[in-house]
Amino acid sequence: MTATHGAATEAATSSSPRSAPPFAVISGDQVQQALQGREKQIVELVEASYRLHANGDSVNPPSYFLSIPDHPTSRIIALPASIGGQMRVHGLKWISSFPDNVPAGIPRASAVLILNDPDTGYPFSCLEASIISATRTAALAASAADWLSRGRPRPTRIGFFGTGLIARYIHTFLAATGWSFDEIGVHDLSSDSAAGFRGYLEQSRADSRITVYNSAEQLIRSSEMVVFATIAGHPHVDDISWFDHDPIVLHVSLRDLAPEILLGATNIVDDVEHCLKANTSPHLAEQLTGDRTFVHGTLDDVMAGRIDVPANRPVVFSPFGLGVLDLAVGKYVYDEVALSGNLHVIDDFFHELRRFG
Ligand SMILES: NC(=O)c1ccc[n+]([C@@H]2O[C@H](COP(=O)([O-])OP(=O)(O)OC[C@H]3O[C@@H](n4cnc5c(N)ncnc54)[C@H](O)[C@@H]3O)[C@@H](O)[C@H]2O)c1
Repeated sequence: MTATHGAATEAATSSSPRSAPPFAVISGDQVQQALQGREKQIVELVEASYRLHANGDSVNPPSYFLSIPDHPTSRIIALPASIGGQMRVHGLKWISSFPDNVPAGIPRASAVLILNDPDTGYPFSCLEASIISATRTAALAASAADWLSRGRPRPTRIGFFGTGLIARYIHTFLAATGWSFDEIGVHDLSSDSAAGFRGYLEQSRADSRITVYNSAEQLIRSSEMVVFATIAGHPHVDDISWFDHDPIVLHVSLRDLAPEILLGATNIVDDVEHCLKANTSPHLAEQLTGDRTFVHGTLDDVMAGRIDVPANRPVVFSPFGLGVLDLAVGKYVYDEVALSGNLHVIDDFFHELRRFG
């Protein structure tokens, strides 16, 4: 517990009366400072939180997708969640995706995370959350890359299919957790994005040969590990022969692969109930086959040694993305900022505090 929020919680749990906690706003700059250079620690935190969830010490209802009639390609998603263990916090990530932002020069996705006090239910912080969201996604992807490659030669050629913010965070997390690649392939529908990503890779001093591929097929065929981070709403990769070399596929954008590709692969998800929804590729595979037997298991099953991942088939990891992981990373950030004494508390945020005036 942090000084500020700890005091609030103490007051809330002592005899009476309960008091409303102070409310703090945490900017993207503060979030980035709290997380930068801590990649290994964050991967451990995300793995531990994911395992808490897998063991039932969480509440993670389905995400709610708000569609917007006059912006049919846009959406805003609510991810409510509660996590137990030492973190003990409830909350909500509210993340929007407006693809038309990109040509206008601002990022597609924007988000806030609200943290709620576990005892009073009061919200005690609002954090900029696009960085938190990218961080928890990249941390789980790095964890999956590690666990799924244990029974096979470690990939030295990686391909990024879609090269926006998430691809950049995944590369950063892989590099910070010990991965180095002889070759990095890049493919994006937008030549600007591909060139920007190439520039980022060159600056990150990755000692790798970098190739920008115009052909999706060539990118996949030349990569032992493929990261999908596009914004495709429907499958656009449907030739199973492109995967003949049995790559590890981190299918973070969830809707790129035709169901037939999944049916020819070992499928690992983060959470079965969550992932087989919202027309993800695993959801389409379920609709095609009428059952879920194509799902080999969860990443938690792999971590716990309950299942093996054969090396002689492609393996596709499809992480739906769990609100509990946003909460875990958000609470970590809150605690760091509180410890540093830099919380921006909004005085009198909660105002009508006497029931009868
Ligand atoms: N599973 C999860 O937990 C999780 C979490 C966060 C984001 N995501 C998903 O990751 C994806 C990437 O997010 P981002 O913030 O990096 O997006 P972004 O908008 O920053 O970048 C997406 C990139 O993909 C490219 N692209 C789009 N369609 C393509 C196609 N068919 N082929 C090749 N390139 C294509 C775009 O040109 C762009 O450069 C999104 O789909 C997002 O929903 C998943």
